[in-house]
Amino acid sequence: MASVLITGGAGFIGSHTCVVLLEAGHELVVLDDFSNSSPVALERAQLLGGGSIRCVRGDIRDPACLNAIFANAQAADTPIEAVIHFAGLKAVGESVAEPLRYWDVNLCGSRTLVAAMDAHHCRTLVFSSTSTIYGEPTRFPLVETMAPAPIHPYAQSKWAVEQLLNALAATGSWRIANLRYFNPVGAHPSGQIGEDPLGIPNNLFPFITQIAAGRLESLRVFGNDYPTHDGTGIRDYLHVMDLAEAHAHALDHLLSAAPETALTLNLGTGQGLSVLDVVHGFEQATGISILYSICARRPGDVPRLECSPQLAEQTLGWTAKRSLADMCRDGWAWQSANPHGYRR
Ligand code: NAD
Ligand code: UFG
Repeated sequence: MASVLITGGAGFIGSHTCVVLLEAGHELVVLDDFSNSSPVALERAQLLGGGSIRCVRGDIRDPACLNAIFANAQAADTPIEAVIHFAGLKAVGESVAEPLRYWDVNLCGSRTLVAAMDAHHCRTLVFSSTSTIYGEPTRFPLVETMAPAPIHPYAQSKWAVEQLLNALAATGSWRIANLRYFNPVGAHPSGQIGEDPLGIPNNLFPFITQIAAGRLESLRVFGNDYPTHDGTGIRDYLHVMDLAEAHAHALDHLLSAAPETALTLNLGTGQGLSVLDVVHGFEQATGISILYSICARRPGDVPRLECSPQLAEQTLGWTAKRSLADMCRDGWAWQSANPHGYRR
């Protein structure tokens, strides 16, 4: 079992990953500034995972904070052996409006992190990348050998970090996994932790669950004139618990891999679903009707993102196991038990 630093561990994907890693017996330190999350998520993750998390409130761009985390762990004879790096900003539209902030947190934050890791001889890192680095592809399914063509500052900053990490791996002493997430949704089946966006959700799935909870009226479906089976946009949605489990697999894989390992893996189901497929899937799984209207396309959206998850399966022995019905049932269990998220 390893001692692992989880940056952004209080967030949506981070909190679910903490549960899975605690269940596997790992020792966890979480660094989070709680700019988009709540400490309550970590309290609940500890209860669900059956272990304790050392939590540090701090900014990923603060070298003193990072150096203290590594030095304190070394002094306590539990040196950090690996890092899973979730901390970052993720809203595409916001990244177009505030590119400097996105480059600062996502790229400079990652650079600060790897410099602190290097100084403390911790050179094993799992990184949160994104399917949006493929840009607006026309060939499917997406495979990792296709050239990234990011079209907004969010995806550009993630691709820049991947390149930095690949360059580190090429020096011969780092073990890196760039994990390209497709669209994680749902929640832990207990309904205790889940996605808790600040303000009105940008993303489809929390928008739907908040309509079901009576917090929002009606969904705007952004476009029904895409070249897809029903005209609405297609994404590769996967259950957040499947994604969390992929991190445990990636961590185990890296910890026993040779230095100079650089993995880049798509994480999705391989089954694209349209906006209306998700709406109707939610209605079927929960028995709740979702009011919607068709609106204009959202600027920056692409028609389709759908991956081949084969390389992840071959490399890690991981596949997404949970269905759309599971995603909807578990997402609704979270939202109905916590209609206002962690803010009660
Ligand atoms: P999230 O916002 O819920 O989690 C990110 C966490 O990082 C939050 O707890 C936030 O408080 C923290 N954070 C942000 N800036 C920080 C800073 N400067 N210093 C320290 N902590 C900071 O997001 P998420 O959905 O859990 O995503 C996690 C990672 O995965 C992100 O890097 C995101 O870009 C990436 N990703 C997410 C998705 C998705 O659809 N959710 C898809 C692809 C990639
Ligand atoms: N959509 C609507 N109405 C809404 C919200 C979304 O019709 O109110 C549609 C979008 O047009 C798109 C689909 O639902 O066709 C999915 O949109 P999301 O906003 O849920 O997700 P995106 O694929 O745009 O982006 C998300 C995250 C990114 C991440 C990416 C990974 O916002 O951070 O998934 O694929 F990188």
